[in-house]
Amino acid sequence: MLKKINSTLAVLAVVLTAATSSAFASCEPGEKVVKFSHVTGGATHPKVVAANNFAERVNKELNGKLCVEVYPNSTLFGDSKELEALLLGDVQLLAPSLSKFGSYTKKYGVFDLPFIFKDMNSAMAFTNSKTGKDLLNAMEDKGFVGLGYWMSGMKYFSANKPLIVPTDAKGLKFRVQTSDVAKAMISAMSASPQPMAFAEVYGALQTKVVDGQENTWSNIYTKKFFEVQDSTTETSHQLLGYLFMTSKDFLNSLDADTRSKFIKIADEVTNAENKSVNQAEETNRKNILQAGGKINVLTPEQRKQWVDAMKPVWTQFETEIGKDLINTAAGF
Ligand code: LMR
Repeated sequence: MLKKINSTLAVLAVVLTAATSSAFASCEPGEKVVKFSHVTGGATHPKVVAANNFAERVNKELNGKLCVEVYPNSTLFGDSKELEALLLGDVQLLAPSLSKFGSYTKKYGVFDLPFIFKDMNSAMAFTNSKTGKDLLNAMEDKGFVGLGYWMSGMKYFSANKPLIVPTDAKGLKFRVQTSDVAKAMISAMSASPQPMAFAEVYGALQTKVVDGQENTWSNIYTKKFFEVQDSTTETSHQLLGYLFMTSKDFLNSLDADTRSKFIKIADEVTNAENKSVNQAEETNRKNILQAGGKINVLTPEQRKQWVDAMKPVWTQFETEIGKDLINTAAGF
């Protein structure tokens, strides 16, 4: 009887794993297994689509050499462990938000400065510039290799009450990523920042451990944050971008031909991701409205109040990030 229950559980585990990882390949003997871990989920999420595209292409074009397995939804590693796991060789590919690298480099704080990019196109122009490309490998000395930037969208605030002007946020608690810039930005709104792993956000909003959060339409829709919030306000106050990355050790372990094909596929998938991201965001914005979520659209005057409230954050981080880097990024 016990044996039967155990085998039923084993079958169930396989089915569940397959259901959460659509690009889960069956690797053959002799192929190097390449584990790709990330924290997002949902068929319409741009990171999910790009990660699965990358896996499909590598598994076809480098068949017999490499076999990519994608683990979405923090099923292999969550926010707090994934970078360490990459250095330990327990995973080979990641795409964390640029806001999660504070213990490795301060330079990525530039991406978090509120209102530094007027839209996604400015952010992409910056990441495609020489300064942006050089930043890809800001953590080379730590053993990390940036393969490309995957844009995800602009961020919007949601809360358990409507946020129309910054003073509406006074006294509220907001979940943030582990970014000093994000923490300072929340404090500038006279609210309290609460750093927390992405996998815990829905529960924390539902149980009112926090009052609000900030994210893209794709994350707010696919993780159903809108269901446990009063509304989301179209602030576009910050960028959410990812560093599609691997480790130096992994890249060096590949023979020259495999490495160059792997990098070529990474470049092509990165370009396709960035081309389709605005459309993905638009679709998920519509999905929120269709599912009954509320969106507050700001007048130019209301939006200016958010810009003014957060602008002092720039000077706070000028020395840490570098004034030249801030000016360059702001010029796009
Ligand atoms: C978050 O933690 O809010 C996001 O960065 C998650 C993600 O990877 O989109």
